[in-house]
Amino acid sequence: FSRTMNSPATRRTVDEITGSRRLRRTRKADWSRRLVRENHLTVDDLIWPLFLMEGENQQEPLSAMPGVMRHTVDHAVRQAEYAAKLGIPAIATFPNIDPARRDDTGSHSLDPDNLINRATRAIKEAVPEIGIITDVALDPFTSHGHDGILRDGEIINDETVAQIAAAAVGQAEAGADIIAPSDMMDGRIGAIRDALDQNGFQNVAIMSYATKFASAFYGPYREAIGTGGLLKGDKKTYYIDPANSDEALREAEQDLQEGADMLIVKPGLPYIDIVRQLKDTFSVPTFAYQVSGEYAMIRAAAANGWIDGERAMLESLLSFKRAGCDGILTYFAAEVAELL
Ligand code: PBG
Repeated sequence: FSRTMNSPATRRTVDEITGSRRLRRTRKADWSRRLVRENHLTVDDLIWPLFLMEGENQQEPLSAMPGVMRHTVDHAVRQAEYAAKLGIPAIATFPNIDPARRDDTGSHSLDPDNLINRATRAIKEAVPEIGIITDVALDPFTSHGHDGILRDGEIINDETVAQIAAAAVGQAEAGADIIAPSDMMDGRIGAIRDALDQNGFQNVAIMSYATKFASAFYGPYREAIGTGGLLKGDKKTYYIDPANSDEALREAEQDLQEGADMLIVKPGLPYIDIVRQLKDTFSVPTFAYQVSGEYAMIRAAAANGWIDGERAMLESLLSFKRAGCDGILTYFAAEVAELL
């Protein structure tokens, strides 16, 4: 080391080292950086998750997600109107169900007049131009916070699949454009496709949370839909182990064979390698969910002055585009759309 430092004259020149190739040439000015820019974030890339609650003309802030609210249906309609005005293509709704309505099997998921279906109908009527994506996992409806039917300490796969498929038909009847199952049961995509088709909903698409990992980053979401304190145990018997990427590919392949139109990777940034692998392998519309914990980290660091929140938000979303995403589910959607 010291010999190198002491005898620079004996070393090669930079032009000799690089063969006169200098990558900084295209970085030298704003205009040239814009000229060679490979990826762009646009409003068309955004899906805005919205939290729903019972009641009228109310919204409640979420302590672990500064800037995000839970909305009563009438408020959610206004949020959807705002999203449409910003040019955001689609919203994704998540309900905080009245605890009195939750039970072991999540039976209220089948009620045509449950919170999520009422919101879908109201939004569809007021804002027909925006896409509505609904999740059919049972966790908002179960007394234990799991995504499926729990019996003797086990999540019962096949019964859960039958119920989720029926709930999906109810959501399509209410006006959902895309059914997005996030439960990770085996066989759910094929069962939902069959149920939708048998009931005349051939044109309702399925966006599968195909690669959903057993992650620590869902914490603030569970507060938002009121399952945080309820959850007994964890979801490791149905979500993918964070250590596995081959398994994630197999899961995505299976879901596509069963009829998924689009794929979601969830969480987002910690699993951005999975996005690239899915895109390269299957060439289908691929989305990432920048989940609640990712949102909270950026917000918290920005609130402390540790990072520039706006730049971190834009950089994280652009990274999803670079990794191959066709779009991103993000709580930043409205804020970003305002900026763009
Ligand atoms: C469950 C579900 C989760 C999220 C949405 N639906 C994960 C969970 O609670 O286990 C997380 C979304 C987020 O963290 O933003 N079906």
